[in-house]
Amino acid sequence: MNDNSSHFKPIILTGDRPTGALHLGHYVGSIQNRLKFQDEYDTCFYMVADVQALTDNADDPQKVRDNVIEVVLDNLAVGVDPTKTHFFIQSMVPEIAELTVFFMNLVTVQQLSHNPTIKTEALQKGYFLQNKFLTADGGEEKNIGHGIPLGFLAYPVSQAADILICKANIVPVGEDQMPVLEQANDIVKKFNATYGREVFPMIKGIVGSTPRLVGTDGSSKASKTLGNTIMLSDSPEEIERKVMSMYTDPNRLKKTDEGQIEGNVVFTYLDIFGTDKKKIEDFKRRYIAGGDDAPGDIEIKKYLIEELRKLLDPIRARREEYAKDIPAIEKILREGNAVARKYAQATMQEVREVMKINYKF
Ligand code: TRP
Repeated sequence: MNDNSSHFKPIILTGDRPTGALHLGHYVGSIQNRLKFQDEYDTCFYMVADVQALTDNADDPQKVRDNVIEVVLDNLAVGVDPTKTHFFIQSMVPEIAELTVFFMNLVTVQQLSHNPTIKTEALQKGYFLQNKFLTADGGEEKNIGHGIPLGFLAYPVSQAADILICKANIVPVGEDQMPVLEQANDIVKKFNATYGREVFPMIKGIVGSTPRLVGTDGSSKASKTLGNTIMLSDSPEEIERKVMSMYTDPNRLKKTDEGQIEGNVVFTYLDIFGTDKKKIEDFKRRYIAGGDDAPGDIEIKKYLIEELRKLLDPIRARREEYAKDIPAIEKILREGNAVARKYAQATMQEVREVMKINYKF
């Protein structure tokens, strides 16, 4: 890789689409890194990707609007600190849209329609991407679904602009976003080579400790659409209900049967969120061995509920606190926005210069 990172100081940028509340998958996928990096680096940005959210919600602007404050609340609640991280809204930095237009010249439609993230998301949303798309079992279905909005197909280009408008080079994301960052790096290389100057840094995507959290139902990914995830804002009752319905070992019919840990969602979550490693190892040993000493599913689930509440109760309390003062949140966004625009304007000046569109008349 053409690593030009040494010319650039580390700048962190990440973001969420305002389409719904965040969940535990986001927490272990990228939020933990947001918290770590804001203590390690001087310049951090958190962006609410409202323009990106509209690429597949053009007909539901109210949903996007309502969720702008919700995702900011979630981030404040987990501990993203507005004194360390500049919060801003994508549409309030119009330079991003401008940079997107110039980047579009450097990307082919083929690249975008072959991007693994776009392919997966298009499939989830029922968008008709190519002449055919694959069904979950590997079969082919033809001519189903809706046409893909051009803005959605091109969102990796606009995401490259989100990041590069601030010259960010470290981006904490979930694993699913890595192909989008690869596309952004192609743009960096092409832009710098075409216009003869190292305007942009290469981007390093950083995935969290658990890149892909399994769903509470045991399916491969926790996702809000699948309804198999625990939200950061879930009430104690909701946490309890979701853990109690978690998938365990379907072959363990009686508590005394030998149990299986692999694929057992309760143990997977305990490995990630449990704090008492010794207790967990003891549970596992007895669960596997079976017999009179084996723990019941309910007992293990109760312990998981306790551990999740230790993590989530303070987050929920902080969220409620912040939610009492919405004008204070608007002020955080206004201030972050002003900082982001300063970076954006400086970047665009350089872009216009190398692209020979810096008219002086
Ligand atoms: N696409 C990201 C997601 O769905 C959100 C996002 C938009 C983003 N712009 C970004 C993430 C820039 C990191 C950097 O989660």
